[in-house]
Amino acid sequence: MTNDPLLKWREEFPILSRKTYLINNSLGAMPRKVYEGLKHFADMWNEDGVVAWHYEDGTGWLDDCEKTADLIGSVMGAPPRSVMLHLNVATLTAQVLSSIDFSGKRNRIVYDDMQFTSPHYVCQQWARYGAELHLVKSHDRIGVDVQQLLDAIDERTAIVPISHVYFRSAYLQDVQPIIDKAHKVGAKVLLDVYQSIGTVPFDVTQLNVDFAVGGSVKWVCGGPNVCYLYIRPDLIPTYQPALTGWISHARPFKFEMDFTPHKTAWRAATGTPPVVALYSARPGYDIIKQVGLPAIREKSVRLTSHLVEKALEAGFTVNSPRDPARRGGTVCIDFANAEEAHNELIRRGFVIDYRPGGGIRVSPHFYNTIDECNAIIAQMKELRR
Ligand SMILES: Cc1ncc(COP(=O)(O)O)c(C=O)c1O
Repeated sequence: MTNDPLLKWREEFPILSRKTYLINNSLGAMPRKVYEGLKHFADMWNEDGVVAWHYEDGTGWLDDCEKTADLIGSVMGAPPRSVMLHLNVATLTAQVLSSIDFSGKRNRIVYDDMQFTSPHYVCQQWARYGAELHLVKSHDRIGVDVQQLLDAIDERTAIVPISHVYFRSAYLQDVQPIIDKAHKVGAKVLLDVYQSIGTVPFDVTQLNVDFAVGGSVKWVCGGPNVCYLYIRPDLIPTYQPALTGWISHARPFKFEMDFTPHKTAWRAATGTPPVVALYSARPGYDIIKQVGLPAIREKSVRLTSHLVEKALEAGFTVNSPRDPARRGGTVCIDFANAEEAHNELIRRGFVIDYRPGGGIRVSPHFYNTIDECNAIIAQMKELRR
């Protein structure tokens, strides 16, 4: 094909030999080692029963929870024990909001109308606890002017829950000034990194962000229900959410009736953590670490720039930023019968998806080829009416 060294990873992802897999911003290809991971979980359960929660040598289910959280943390520059695992972003958003007192003058949640629906719905519900929503509107349904967000953040702002890369358009938000402004006025930032982690390099420590939340099913090639929350280490001792549970306790297996929070980010754990699911997430995390974010990003910019160029040449509408510096890993391509064409593309073995207002989302990863990108453009040209 080419001498692209990243293509050697294709054999780790069996689906790539059967399909043109270009939907990595929604669900990354499954690493073949997921079979081994899930078998390992079942073997522990079958062989050792309840003892599998914790082995003397630190390899039980709870130990693997901590190690897996630290592994995904290392992809985003988080120090050990500043990240914990949970089920989904919706619950984690609710948890972070439950740690904030919205009864006083500082009761605003500032964000924009391009956020994912899970955090948006949760924020809307927080009106019942006194939160006032301030929603900045996007003019073009691609990005949101950072200045408008900065102007909206003031002394009344409690928290700014914002996406790093927007799911609708792949707009890569310039989050550093937002974090700096929030801190200047005493507000916190909850950064949703679900659409950036594994394709855009970033470092939560360098960003100095308060909280970061994300999951596994997209660019880090993991299975569902392994989401995670990063808490900036200096905030951990005072992080006291109302939404809590037995695993958040400093001594969960003592079953004390008084609550003493865990010393690390695991105080955010609530109840039983996502044990089964973590074994479907680790193989992907390992591969992303080995490939490395600089190489992944370089290739992503190359393939998405090629897609933008070819889509525009063909006369399609591109609903993603043209500037690669402001674009994540996805290109949204639209035309009159795009929704119908997307069903036919799937029938023909091209795995993509369609979002109303965005179009067909094409999101190549490090294991995709330029030939696959050319092939999908050719198919769209054929299917366009
Ligand atoms: C930016 C972003 N946040 C969060 C989610 C998922 O939220 P949840 O974990 O609540 O399903 C998605 C998509 O699945 C997303 O694109």
